[in-house]
Amino acid sequence: MTTKRTSRASTQSGSTLRPHVLVLHGPNLNLLGNREPKHYGIATLDDINRMLVGLGEAAGVHVETFQQNHEGALIDKLHEAVRDRVDFIVINPAAYTHTSVALRDALAATAIPFVEVHLSNIHARESFRHHSYFSDLAVGVVSGLGAHGYELALEYALRYLQNRTPHGSQKTEKAH
Ligand code: DQA
Repeated sequence: MTTKRTSRASTQSGSTLRPHVLVLHGPNLNLLGNREPKHYGIATLDDINRMLVGLGEAAGVHVETFQQNHEGALIDKLHEAVRDRVDFIVINPAAYTHTSVALRDALAATAIPFVEVHLSNIHARESFRHHSYFSDLAVGVVSGLGAHGYELALEYALRYLQNRTPHGSQKTEKAH
C-alpha cells in the first residue's frame, strides 16, 4: 500500500480546479507585530496572510490561512485538510514545534507535503527550541528569515505544484 496521494484539483468552494495551499499558524502567532519584535519582526499576521493570499492569487492557487492557539483545533484543521483535498501545507507550529507529538501525528496522517517555517532561527536560541517534532517529515524547513520565510515556503509550494505529474509524483526528485 502506498501513502502517496494522487494529484487532483481542489473542490473546496471558490477554488474549483485551483490547487489549494493551507498555511497553518500555531499559538501566539496572532500576536505578531507586538510580540518580541527582536525575534519575530514587526509584520502582523494579517500582513503576512495578505501577502501569501496575494501571491497565491497571482499564481492561480487558492491559499487558505488559519491560526489557532489550541492544539486540538490545529489537529482538527489537519483532518479537514484531507477532506478538503489540500495539496500542500506551509506550517509554523510555533511552540508546538518543540512539544507536540499529537500535531506531528496529525500532519503525518494527512500525507500532504509540507514546509515548516519559523520566523526566528530556532537553532540560535534556547536549547529547548533546537528540536522540532516536524522537521524530519517536512519537505524542507525555513528558519530565521522572518516573514520572508513564509514567502519562500509558498514560492516553493507553487513550484512543487507546477512540477506535479498527473499522478501526483514530482517530475524531478525535488522542485528546485
Ligand atoms: C517560532 C519559534 C518557536 O520556538 C516559538 O515558540 C514560536 C515561534 C518562530 O516562528 O520563530 O512561537 O515558531
